[in-house]
Amino acid sequence: MIQQILEDRKEFFPESLYHSYENPILLTYGDSHYYYSQKDEEPYLDLYNNVCHIGHSNPYVLDAVTSSYSTININTRYLNTSLTLYANHLSKYLPENYKMIFTNSGSESNDLALQISLNYNRYNKNIGAFERGYHGTTWLCNQVSHIDSKGEIKDKSFIDIGINTKFVSPEDKNISDKFGVFIMEVIQGVGGNYNIDHDIIRNVRHNTDILICDEVQTGFGRSGGTFWAFEKTGIVPDIITCGKPIANGYPMGACIFRKELEPYLSKNYFNTFGGNNVACRVAKVVLEQIEEKSYIKHSKEIGDYLIYLLGEIENKKYIKKITGSGLFIGIHFDNSIDVKKLVECLKDDMRVIVGVGVGNCIRIKPPMTVTKSCILNFVLYLDILLN
Ligand SMILES: Cc1ncc(COP(=O)(O)O)c(C=O)c1O
Repeated sequence: MIQQILEDRKEFFPESLYHSYENPILLTYGDSHYYYSQKDEEPYLDLYNNVCHIGHSNPYVLDAVTSSYSTININTRYLNTSLTLYANHLSKYLPENYKMIFTNSGSESNDLALQISLNYNRYNKNIGAFERGYHGTTWLCNQVSHIDSKGEIKDKSFIDIGINTKFVSPEDKNISDKFGVFIMEVIQGVGGNYNIDHDIIRNVRHNTDILICDEVQTGFGRSGGTFWAFEKTGIVPDIITCGKPIANGYPMGACIFRKELEPYLSKNYFNTFGGNNVACRVAKVVLEQIEEKSYIKHSKEIGDYLIYLLGEIENKKYIKKITGSGLFIGIHFDNSIDVKKLVECLKDDMRVIVGVGVGNCIRIKPPMTVTKSCILNFVLYLDILLN
C-alpha cells in the first residue's frame, strides 16, 4: 500500500510534495495526541501536530462541523451568527481597537498583512524580517521569508518580484535600521522553535512603523502562559496573523489589524471561504476548549516539565541548548548526533513522532491534550536512543 501511494505521488505531484521521514508511515486514524496506522495497532505518540490543537478527532470539533455543515454553509456576504459570535469571543484575547479578516491559511493572512502595511507605507517600503524566519508561500510571503518550509535558505531568484527585504540576525542586539514594515515570529517555528531575545524584539518595535507578528505557529496558548507569544515581550504589534491551530485543522486563518489601518485595505476585499459559518463554529469550539481545559496554563506546565526532564537525563551532554517555551520546544543537539536518524528511530523503535528543525534540532509541538506521562516516556526513550 505504502509503495503504491509513493508511486502515485511521484506520478501526479511535483517534488515539492515531499513526505516526512525516510521510512514514511501510513496514518489512518487519530485520537487526542495519538496516531494509528491501523485502529487495532499500537499507536504513535504525536508530539508534532500543532494544527490539531485540541486533539485529533476532537468530539466537539466533530459536532461543530457536522451540525453546522448539515444545516448551512455560507460565505460572509450573508448574515449568520457564527461569524460575529466568534469575532466577539476572539476579541477577548486582542488589544483594544483591532479589526479582523478571516482567511484560508497562514500564508494568506501574512500576504494580506503585508498588503495593508505596504499600502500604508507607500513611500517607505523598507521591509525587514529576521534571518531564519518563515512566513508562507505567496509571492509577498516569499519575499519576506529567509528560509523555506523545509528550513533551507531561500533561492530568492526563483520568485523575485522586486521587493527587497533586509534580513537581520535574530541575535543582533544593535539593529539600527528604521523599517517601514517588519514581520517577525516572536518564537521562530521552522527556524528551530527558537525564541528571539525580547530586547531585540523591543528594539525592532521601536524602529518600525508597522510591525506584523506572525502568530501562525505560536498563537492560541501554544507558547505557554499567554495566549499570544508577543505578550511575553511587552510589545504590541500593529498586525497579528494566525493560521494552523485556529480551527483545529479546518482551513482558516486570520489577519487582525489596528482599526486605523482599515483605509489601507481595499473596501471591496472579499474571499469566498474565509469566515464561513462552519469555520467560525469550529474556531469558537477551539477557544471554548482552551478555556475549559485551561490549555494556556497546561501548555506552560508541560513545557516546563519537559525542559526540567531534559536537564535530568543521563545523556544531556549531547544537548547543546533548549529553545522555545510552552508546548513549542526545540532540542538542539551537538554535531555528533544525526538528528534525522534520531527522529527516524524515535518513530520506528519508540513510536513517537517529532520533527526536525534548523540547527540540528528536534521540534516538539504536540496537541494541547498531551500529558505529563507522555512527556516522561518521550524523554526516557530519547535518553535510551542517545546511548
Ligand atoms: C510562522 C508561519 N507563518 C506562516 C506559515 C504559512 O502557513 P500556511 O502553510 O497555512 O500557509 C507557516 C507555515 O508553516 C508558519 O510556520
